[in-house]
Amino acid sequence: MTLTADEQKRAAALRALDFVEDGQRLGLGTGSTAAHFVDLLGGRVAEGLSVRCVPTSEATRVQAERLSIPLATLDEMPELDLTVDGADEIGPGLALIKGGGGALLREKIVASASARMLVIADASKHVETLGAFPLPVEVVKFGMAASERAMSRAFAGLGLGGEIVARKTGSGALFETDNGNHIFDCHLRRIEDPAALAAALAAIAGVVEHGLFIGLAGSAIVAGPDGVQLIEAAA
Ligand code: A5P
Repeated sequence: MTLTADEQKRAAALRALDFVEDGQRLGLGTGSTAAHFVDLLGGRVAEGLSVRCVPTSEATRVQAERLSIPLATLDEMPELDLTVDGADEIGPGLALIKGGGGALLREKIVASASARMLVIADASKHVETLGAFPLPVEVVKFGMAASERAMSRAFAGLGLGGEIVARKTGSGALFETDNGNHIFDCHLRRIEDPAALAAALAAIAGVVEHGLFIGLAGSAIVAGPDGVQLIEAAA
């Protein structure tokens, strides 16, 4: 029996529960795969597992509260044992593109505060080169046009082309993140040097954060049609 994409996400989330220990401080990711994990974790909490969790978005906070998962803010609990989160792409060395759901800033802060980040995904996310998925970049509202130009110059400097699109909601308004910022989705197609791109984006004044997660994920659980694979980042 082969698994559908959604069944793969749930299979990866189920395997991630093996990494959770009683008493741990957890970061809870955002997105459809992370939502499976939160759902399954809620079941374990109902059975008596004791954990305290920091959600990476309002959507995840609402879901976790509904499941009676004990929550804390990152200020109350600034060091976490494990964060479990999804990804839009998983590339070589477990470099990631994240932010398709718009939660990249809190996701990166929470992952950075965690001793370990575990990525869960279906097999479609595992790629040889990052960039087919448009790279989300969170920018402050002030001076968005100037930020866009600076990003365009930075991309050209790295030999990258491609469209920069301000993310919109279904009603046509600019998408607003949980932090009150906007997002540019950058259609770069092939990111051969994620570290150079990350450095160039970080140097732009209006950029709050970008969706390249480099050196953060320690392991990934990737579920394919026929089973689940654990991938460890090289030490
Ligand atoms: C949220 O901002 C993202 O980083 C998600 O983790 C990512 O988009 C993966 O989402 P899915 O699990 O829904 O594919």
